[in-house]
Amino acid sequence: MDGIYLDHAATSFPKAPGVAAHMNNYLVNIGSNVNRGSYNSSFSAANTVYETRELICKLFNFDKPDNVVFTKNITESLNVLIKGLLKTGDHVLVSSMEHNAVMRPLNSTLKNGIEISRVPCDNLGCLSLETVEKMIKPNTKAVIMTHASNVCGTILPLEEIGNICKKKNICFIIDCAQTAGFLDLDFVKLNADALAFTGHKGLLGPQGIGGFIINDNLAKKLEPLIEGGTGSVSEQEIQPQYLPDKFEAGTPNLPGIYGLNAALKYILQKEVKNIRKTELSLTKLFIQSVKKVKGIKLIGSENITERTAIVSLDFPGHDNADISHQLAKDFNIMTRCGLHCAPSAHKTLGTFPQGTVRFSFSQFNNKKEVKLTVNAIKSCLL
Ligand code: ALA
Repeated sequence: MDGIYLDHAATSFPKAPGVAAHMNNYLVNIGSNVNRGSYNSSFSAANTVYETRELICKLFNFDKPDNVVFTKNITESLNVLIKGLLKTGDHVLVSSMEHNAVMRPLNSTLKNGIEISRVPCDNLGCLSLETVEKMIKPNTKAVIMTHASNVCGTILPLEEIGNICKKKNICFIIDCAQTAGFLDLDFVKLNADALAFTGHKGLLGPQGIGGFIINDNLAKKLEPLIEGGTGSVSEQEIQPQYLPDKFEAGTPNLPGIYGLNAALKYILQKEVKNIRKTELSLTKLFIQSVKKVKGIKLIGSENITERTAIVSLDFPGHDNADISHQLAKDFNIMTRCGLHCAPSAHKTLGTFPQGTVRFSFSQFNNKKEVKLTVNAIKSCLL
């Protein structure tokens, strides 16, 4: 791809080294389905699928590979978790920074008599733990929360929220769309019951593969959203109740799993803390440089330790969409403008309905690209 790609929060590019080759190897040399054939290529594919579950466990500090469920993306994962869990009369707590991947499936449960409350965050996207505690009700079944905002990069204090949920026996579900592969994530420390991830963002894999990890307790309570063939207990016409088959009906995205497998090996070898270090140094340089430019409003926190490598800017007096378009047209710099599928977050940050121009960095960007981007922004403002 030519140009400066700063839209890693939408999807990562390039993918991790080895991803395309591993997918190609599956498509050209293996090609078989899993759990459905008693021949070598099918066993080989099954081994890779299982190894990928183990790699996910290693990355998120979990010890049950069978409790890693693959889906097509995090939106599907969140739908499975939300719609499988909530019943009439349940109350759910979310933050005011959620993405529509949480809000749309949740709002559709309103017709079934489910009650939703939003913990209001401040105009930097920060949340108060005291407010969370106060908003918990006797019928609060679950807290469902993004780990970090896809609009301004603010990280929410999920470890502390996990402790509250554990103390009160409330189910805790985490949306890691913007943190998996960017932040060290420890399923045990977070006291989570389920953690939903996508393969194509920070995990540097292909699109079309995502999943969730889930503990036994929550898995037992959930109804599956999609049912069908699993290649197991075929004599029965009802969905198996054990994991991962309970939630994995139909042929999985095997090229996607092969790609994710290679990406996870790369990330584990590189180590998330090193990836974060590179990304934060670029983010810091960008924030410090744009802060000096007149006519730009930084949205979210300046504090580098509280954020991911996503930076949203507002250009008062300009149409943000025009700035994003000009960056693409004149400088080949790729950003995402608008509301980023997160209207509630923009309302919280005071950037609704105009939205922002979002710059999201990855370890594959460099300081020269950051400097060129800052200069390009200055030219757009002339
Ligand atoms: N949710 C993705 C984004 O923030 C697609 O751009």
